[in-house]
Amino acid sequence: MIAQGLDKLTYQTGFGNHFSSEAIPGTLPVGQNSPQECAFGLYAEQLSGSAFTAPRKDNLRTWLYRRHPSVGHGPFEAVPRPDLRPPDDTNSEVTPDQLRWRPDEASGSGLDFVQGLRPMCGSGSPLQKSGYQIYTYAFTEAMEDFCFCNADGDFLLVVQQGPLLIVTELGLLHVAPCEVCVLPRGMRFAVGSTDGALARGYVLEVFEGHFTLPDLGLIGANGLANPRDFEVPVAHPCSERQQHQGHRLIQKLGGRLFAAQQQWSPFDVVAWHGNYVPYKYDLRKFCPMNTVRVDHADPSIFTVLTCPSAVPGTAVADLVVFPPRWSVAENTFRPPYFHRNVMNEYMGLICGAYEAKATFKPGGSSLHVCMSPHGPDLTSYNAATAIDTRAPQRLPSSTMAFMFEVNHTPRVMRSALQSPHLDQEYRQCWQGFPVAKAFGGKATSDAKAIDQPAENGTGALPGGQAQKEEVKAETISSTG
Ligand SMILES: [Fe+2]
Repeated sequence: MIAQGLDKLTYQTGFGNHFSSEAIPGTLPVGQNSPQECAFGLYAEQLSGSAFTAPRKDNLRTWLYRRHPSVGHGPFEAVPRPDLRPPDDTNSEVTPDQLRWRPDEASGSGLDFVQGLRPMCGSGSPLQKSGYQIYTYAFTEAMEDFCFCNADGDFLLVVQQGPLLIVTELGLLHVAPCEVCVLPRGMRFAVGSTDGALARGYVLEVFEGHFTLPDLGLIGANGLANPRDFEVPVAHPCSERQQHQGHRLIQKLGGRLFAAQQQWSPFDVVAWHGNYVPYKYDLRKFCPMNTVRVDHADPSIFTVLTCPSAVPGTAVADLVVFPPRWSVAENTFRPPYFHRNVMNEYMGLICGAYEAKATFKPGGSSLHVCMSPHGPDLTSYNAATAIDTRAPQRLPSSTMAFMFEVNHTPRVMRSALQSPHLDQEYRQCWQGFPVAKAFGGKATSDAKAIDQPAENGTGALPGGQAQKEEVKAETISSTG
């Protein structure tokens, strides 16, 4: 449960900083990491997120000063949870079909975050530290007496419904819809929501590497996701009462769950310093860059975070956002073009009303894998070719969509393919395109000349408000 006022938590800001925080003054060692005896008898413990010998720019670790060393738990026992196993021939399929899922409004009741994880697709092996897995989550119950530790990789959560309170070893994060957070490999955490309310969203788990900010190249020093907008918790050790409660540790390793009991809370870190941290980011702070004359920019221009692979320019996974913005390109088909990509695209919708695409509602998902063609549907194509592109359009402020763009081609979990929420009619949205008009098809518009001012001088679009609203909605909803 999220208590009143926790939405106004204190954070440190920045990305990639070497942060430090102490809940009790004097608990952080000065000039060293591991004194012979720490202040107040605390235990020093390092949590590493990279090999010790990784280059300095990639080296990640945090020192924790806690009341008990985290090793003092009982033996691990396997917890049956076969649906979390990495995708392979036994539980998933490869398909070139374009897929879309409607939001699952009913699931999540009575479940906690871990129980509410639903694998959708993925590729690779957590034991080989290669690839990723994508989930949705839905739950109502807080993780009151147990914590989760993902030894398989980093979790990136996209919150779609209901704010989350995430307790981590380094402090608290309040993560609201339209915000994302990253919980790094090995960090123990517990997730709750508002009292009994459904919390819902998406998870991208990367088995290799870590998320970082993309290089900006010729954009310059500013723009897209600015480092100062990332928020990192401050030390927040549990209360004395919570400290002595028994706690269950659930650890994921190799796609298997294991449970162990310990006699105290894992959230007993009094002070910490380092650069291996959980963090959150509000997608509404994203500073979009885009074309200002012609053509639709590739969606990489909207990259928020990237998890680089060993191949320069090819990510393990990117988080891409499609935020509210102006669309101004002249003589241009403004929605995303038809395309077949080498990368794979899993798209979700956080919020926004789509009048002309009722099947893609908030909480829904779509998947277009390597070389499977997709693009605007017939309705949006007709609308976008009919507008006067000499005037700008404002895409709705209420809308936020995102994409996980991933390199390894995913297998789709059989449970997702058999889901009643799989939209069996999805491909119908691309039916009915006439042959090009020069070959007998029906013309949809005449080409507009570049650099001609709007005839009425007001920037107003022809076709009335209804058409404009349809075009707005379609433009932002058909990125996938
Ligand atoms: Fe796409």
